[in-house]
Formats: sequence, structure tokens, C-alpha cells
Amino acid sequence: MELTKPEIIDILKDDSQNDWLFKLADETRKKYVGDEVHLRGLIEFSNICRCQCKYCGLQSTNKNIERYRISPDDIVLYAQKAVEMGYKTIVLQSGEDEFYSKDVMCEIIKNIKKLDVALTLSIGERSFEEYKAFKDCGADRYLIRIETTDKNLYKQMHPNMDFDNRIRCLKDLKKLGYETGTGCLVGLPNQTIESLADDILFFKEINADMVGIGPFIAHPQTPLKDVPNGSFTLALKVMALTRILLKNINIPATTAMETLNPQGRIIALQSGANVVMPNVTTTEYRAKYEIYPGKICINENPTQCRGCIEGKIKSIGRTVSTDYGFRNEN
Ligand code: SAM
Ligand code: FES
Repeated sequence: MELTKPEIIDILKDDSQNDWLFKLADETRKKYVGDEVHLRGLIEFSNICRCQCKYCGLQSTNKNIERYRISPDDIVLYAQKAVEMGYKTIVLQSGEDEFYSKDVMCEIIKNIKKLDVALTLSIGERSFEEYKAFKDCGADRYLIRIETTDKNLYKQMHPNMDFDNRIRCLKDLKKLGYETGTGCLVGLPNQTIESLADDILFFKEINADMVGIGPFIAHPQTPLKDVPNGSFTLALKVMALTRILLKNINIPATTAMETLNPQGRIIALQSGANVVMPNVTTTEYRAKYEIYPGKICINENPTQCRGCIEGKIKSIGRTVSTDYGFRNEN
């Protein structure tokens, strides 16, 4: 289905159509990507960050968190354990931490790619040369959310960052042949419904291969500590519309959704999502990667998470995929 901006705005504003919307997104998901759910093993390998994104608990001005870096050898070990548990994709995510230079990242990528697994990076803004080097070493996918397409809001939320550079990153990644993921936050202060409609149309315009949508959750050690959390339902609606418009892409049921609603990921899987990204590091790091409070699974280990999420997926009549889970081009 094609939708115009005014139609998207109407749907986002009118909650009386929600059941129809979620059902249509679920049918679109089934038709274009089937009943399999792809599990991606997530390694949050450093919470050190040079940025000052106003919403994020990892921002460099937050002096109240204990910072950590997982060594390159240990990152590869976590990846190996995840592959042994059946994961077909590893996602490496971190703050923008310069310790992981081009050479350090290339070494990690080469070692993980020896494990016969797809590899996604989510490490922020880098140069074309760095993205190219990572691709040449075997990285398959890259996630970098635009966060919001409202340029003024982007500027307010990201002091010292440049909207155009974020766009440049997305274009470079596409040009280099990465499966490219982006997405937005829902519920930022002063964010309009019109701009959320623009976000959805932007995902379509750049032909994103993956889109992650998460509600904003206020972190007490950030300048946005007193801003109310984003709405779970509105985030779900943005996600459902993204499925309806982009059809065959991969869409995660995000952890932030489950933080706001105990059934959040299952509801998301029934409203257009087809991916889940369980954490595969040990508990010592999970609580410290606190981008927002109340993160789920901080006391669980990788085996518990795998069992838990597999159980949930089966309980709704879906199956866990055993392939790499690239974008389904059919
Ligand atoms: N540094 C990389 C980057 O910027 O792409 C990856 C790590 S960053 C912590 C991952 C995502 O966390 C961001 O894209 C942002 O949307 C999300 N995030 C950060 N703070 C959040 C908050 N308070 N509530 C919900 N999501 C948040
Ligand atoms: Fe971690 Fe459910 S996925 S406990």
C-alpha cells in the first residue's frame, strides 16, 4: 500500500483505526517476510561515547556511570559463544568510542567473520574510508538511526553533531553495499506528528533495509530527565506504518518497547516486526550500558535470554529462523 503524508498523519493522529493498522502491518509482514523471526546476538561492547545526545544516558557529560570497554579478544569470544548457541547474526554496538580505531575494528570484524556468521555494526558516525575498510573485512550490515528528520529538533538534541553528516553516513553505507538500517525515536520533546510522518517517508526514500523504532525513555542523568516518556502505542504505530510502506525489510521489536510494556516485543512482533536482538554478553555489562533506565534482561545471562525469547516466539505460532536473515528481496 502507498500512503501520502496527509494520510500517514491522519492515521498517526486517529487512534480509532489502530486495530486495523496493526492487523494490516501483521498481514504485510506475513506476506513479504513470513513467519520466521530472526534473532541477532547483540554485544554492547563499550559504553564510552564522545557525543552528547541529550536523551542518551551514555553521553560524555554523564559522570555518574561506570564506563567499560570489552577487549577485542573478549568481543570475539562472546561472538563465538553466541554462534554456538545458534545465532546467525552478531550485532556489535557501542558509544562513539575512538579506542576502537579502524585497525582495531578491522581485526575484530575479520575474526568474527571466520565464525560463519553475518555481522552488523552499530558504532556511529565514521568516515567513508573507515566504512569501506569494515566492509572490505566482511561486515555485512550497519545500523545508524537518523533519530529524527526534523532538522531543528535534530540540532536541539545533538549539540556538536551535524544532520547532514548523519545523512552522508547513510548514503556512504548504501553506496558501499551494506544492508543499511536506520530509524527514529518517538516522543522526543517538541517532536510533531508531521515530523514522524516525514521520518517514515524518509525510510522509504532512502530504501532502508532495516528500520528500528523506539519510544524515547527519560534517563535521570540527562538534560531530558523531566520529559515524559514517549508513547508505546505511537511508537508501535510508526513501526506498523513503516512495515506497510517498506514491506520486505527487517524490523526489530525493540528492547525500548518492552521496557515500556512487559509484552512489548511480542506485541511488536504481531504488529509488523520480524527481528529480535537479545543481548549475548554476561550480566556484568548489561546494567552499565544504560542508554535509558529500566532496560530489560539486565539480570539474565545469554542462555536464559535465548530460551526466554524462543519460548515467547513459539507461543505466538512463529518460528526462529535458522538462516542469516538478509533482506528478503522476493
Ligand atoms: N553510538 C551508536 C549510534 O549513535 O548510532 C549506537 C549506540 S546508540 C546508544 C543506539 C540507539 O539508542 C540510538 O540510536 C538511540 O535511538 C537509542 N537511545 C539512546 N537514548 C535513548 C533513550 N533515552 N530512549 C530510547 N532510546 C534511546
Ligand atoms: Fe532476556 Fe527474555 S529476552 S530474559
